[in-house]
Amino acid sequence: MSSTDMKIITVIGSGLIGRSWAMLFVSGGYTVKIYDNQPGLAAKAITEIRKQMEELEEAHMLRGELSATQQLDLLSSYDDLAQALEGAFFVQECVFENLEVKQSIFQDIEGHVGKGVILSSSTSCLVPSNVFSKVQNRSRCLVSHPVNPPYYVKLVELVPHPETSAAVMDTTHALMTKVGQAPVCLKKEIDGFALNRVQAAIIAESWRLVQDGVISVKDIDLVMSEGLGMRYAFIGPMETMHLNAPEGLEDYMKRYGQGFMRVMNSFGPVPDFFSEGAKSIINEMCELIPSNREHLSARIERRDRLLRGLAKLKKDSDC
Ligand SMILES: NC(=O)c1ccc[n+]([C@@H]2O[C@H](COP(=O)([O-])OP(=O)(O)OC[C@H]3O[C@@H](n4cnc5c(N)ncnc54)[C@H](O)[C@@H]3O)[C@@H](O)[C@H]2O)c1
Ligand SMILES: *[C@@H]1O[C@H](CO)[C@@H](O)[C@H](O)[C@H]1NC(C)=O
Repeated sequence: MSSTDMKIITVIGSGLIGRSWAMLFVSGGYTVKIYDNQPGLAAKAITEIRKQMEELEEAHMLRGELSATQQLDLLSSYDDLAQALEGAFFVQECVFENLEVKQSIFQDIEGHVGKGVILSSSTSCLVPSNVFSKVQNRSRCLVSHPVNPPYYVKLVELVPHPETSAAVMDTTHALMTKVGQAPVCLKKEIDGFALNRVQAAIIAESWRLVQDGVISVKDIDLVMSEGLGMRYAFIGPMETMHLNAPEGLEDYMKRYGQGFMRVMNSFGPVPDFFSEGAKSIINEMCELIPSNREHLSARIERRDRLLRGLAKLKKDSDC
């Protein structure tokens, strides 16, 4: 397929993530066709995207080189799968997180597209060998897992099926880079991919520290937001170690490796999130932020506003 053909992307499913992908792809100048199997929902999604894009443009936060009007001109909605897939070189699936639903939609999609078309899933928790088990040609399939909200958090985890071709990984990596995301490639599939495995490790130890009476819910969150998180927005754990000893990583391990191994060996078992003890941790959180819509929405709004600021800082400082 020549690169001049690579203009149209189909987004399957018009929920939160489908709308985010559509906004990202049009920001990179791609024509995006949105499909949803609930009649009218794809059209509704465009109305919602229009509102968001106009606000973003107003706030000078619109991504890409094109104006909101130009980006909106690249968008169209479909209630018919075959029409939605016509001409696409790349398909990004964003339907419910349900294995049967994903398997069946990919089987349908494969029946409507030519052989060079890349089939990509947004799944957070399902591995490619399950998601694509009903697809005939799995060399064209991969997971492209975004992080919420994708417009401000640029990471995309590219996870191959055992049969995915290197060319498909490369094309997807280039596409994600072109639309301004930050793709990373896993070399093989694994439950939780990379991001959620690291997140699980952090959650597990945070939970244990609270459960064991070492620290409060409020303070463990501060350990991240005022401590580790400050540098993790710019450098990861590997570079952190490399920079924290005069002669780099090997030196760091000589100084602190034993200590870290001792601490790691003292980690407790996987927490039980459904025990009586869990209830008291949940209550402690809810005393800080009550779990009703009003309080949660206010905190979500604050999170997204601060994330926008951080995204802008990273953009302005070129990192
Ligand atoms: N929400 C997140 O934070 C997040 C982050 C990363 C990845 N994801 C993944 O993205 C995917 C979508 O999540 P979401 O939060 O946008 O869900 P959502 O519930 O907001 O949207 C799902 C949309 O898919 C449509 N749909 C369902 N079955 C369909 C089918 N067979 N054909 C066409 N459309 C269909 C629904 O009508 C709905 O509009 C999930 O796999 C999820 O795990 C979500
Ligand atoms: C399978 O997909 C790959 C990658 O898109 C493509 O190059 C190849 O021609 C396809 N094979 C068949 C038999 O359709």
